[in-house]
Amino acid sequence: MKINTICCLGAGYVGGPTMALIAAKCPHLKVIVADLNERRIAAWNSDTLPVYEPDLDKVVAEARGRNLHFTTDIRGAIVEAEMVFVSVGTPTKSYGIGAGRAADLCYIESAARTIAEVSQGHKIIVEKSTIPVKTASAIKTILEANSSPSATFEVLSNPEFLAEGTAIEDLEDPDRILIGGENTPGGHLAVEALASIYANWVPRERIITTNLWSSELSKIVANAFLSQRISSINSISALCEATGADVKEVARAIGMDQRIGPRFLRASVGFGGSCFQKDLLNLVYLCESFHLPEVAEYWSQVVKINDWQKSRFVGRIVRTLFNTVTNKRIAVLGFAFKKDTNDTRETAAINVCRDLLRERARIAVYDPQVTADGIRQELLAAGVEPALLDSHLEICPDAYAASEGAHALAVLTEWDEFAALDFPRIHTLMVKPAFVFDGRAILPHDELQVLGFECFTIGKGL
Ligand code: NAD
Ligand code: UDX
Repeated sequence: MKINTICCLGAGYVGGPTMALIAAKCPHLKVIVADLNERRIAAWNSDTLPVYEPDLDKVVAEARGRNLHFTTDIRGAIVEAEMVFVSVGTPTKSYGIGAGRAADLCYIESAARTIAEVSQGHKIIVEKSTIPVKTASAIKTILEANSSPSATFEVLSNPEFLAEGTAIEDLEDPDRILIGGENTPGGHLAVEALASIYANWVPRERIITTNLWSSELSKIVANAFLSQRISSINSISALCEATGADVKEVARAIGMDQRIGPRFLRASVGFGGSCFQKDLLNLVYLCESFHLPEVAEYWSQVVKINDWQKSRFVGRIVRTLFNTVTNKRIAVLGFAFKKDTNDTRETAAINVCRDLLRERARIAVYDPQVTADGIRQELLAAGVEPALLDSHLEICPDAYAASEGAHALAVLTEWDEFAALDFPRIHTLMVKPAFVFDGRAILPHDELQVLGFECFTIGKGL
């Protein structure tokens, strides 16, 4: 099947960068990215993209207006495309059955209904969003029950494994591309049509194909395994702090075992981001739905340790600051859930700032990419009272402004610039004793100690 035009429903952190890269690598393809959100589309068409990712602006500049188009005309985009990617959000459901655990599939269903409504002829529908296993069959049922008799569909699963902050790198050089399809002649043709798009820049041996359910499930399982490693090392970080071991040294020692490997063993204040917790909760819910309570309980521990790690960090700050932080200024360095992104979804900083504000600390936040409004909105959504934000939250233009008059400095995101700050200047600006709580273990601790800071490092202690 010859594909000339593809479209993507959803111009978010996945849809935007993924389609921009496909357009850049496949100049012969027309790529249309469509979203309901007018502001987001306007931003994709401007010089200030709605997503911050290293090198994303270059990739977009190369293809936009040539073969990459951003639009709110969702129906027009579907009509024109032979292949439709669905990259809408699948957040944790906040209401009704499965609230707090199941994936909310309302955006997926609404996208499927729009596709059914306007489609004629044959189209390949590609699930890019992360969804519970068996969703492809629900999509197919909706498409077939609501479309014109001339419309036919193949549904593929093609989960995205990019990580934010390295999205372009991950898209250009993926570990693997996973495509799930039906074991029918039509299914094989559709899989090959999608595989041949990726083959423009990904070696064929890295494009793997499976059945639909394995592909859908693999995405959630990959995130479960990755986050499990972080909760494992974070649980050990507590033991290191209690015993005098250093979690970095332990991670290095175990990571050199080739069976364990060195990556994803960085102890932290807790993992964040829009995917890990959501997909773990979804996995737990799936296991419960399939009557596997022991499996559900096993994976729910990964989330529990992560929540505990965040509150443990706050507890450590309060205890160390002589059991009271009331009206003490605490400089918070970093609000994004990791470096090199402006994304704050589920960032550990939300819990840490919320809990410190509830202790009546005065919080002075600096993040190189997150806007003041973004920080405020996250804390409001986390239940912090507006009056408390007005009186106790300040957003600062740099780390020095945040440190001025601060009793403590807490590093919550591993931005490179934090390790290279002018610490003698910061020490002068702070109230003494000047405490540092390094939730990412990135600061030059020997230098800090010589300067007179009292340092707490995650996984190492005071
Ligand atoms: P996002 O919230 O940034 O973007 C989703 C977009 O879909 C929004 O802009 C929304 O307006 C739009 N949308 C909703 N319904 C629509 C419709 N019917 N038609 C057109 N647009 C519609 O979400 P995201 O971070 O890009 O994630 C999308 C999916 O990819 C999720 O399932 C997520 O789990 C998965 N995923 C995310 C990442 C990541 O790093 N963010 C990585 C891999 C997979
Ligand atoms: C994750 C997966 O890595 C990616 O494959 C999937 O497509 C989407 O979800 P992302 O959430 O963007 O990507 O970033 P990731 O690098 O995985 O980091 C997630 C969180 O874990 C961040 O808060 C990060 O700081 C934290 N983390 C990561 C650690 O605390 N320690 C580590 O060793 C690694």
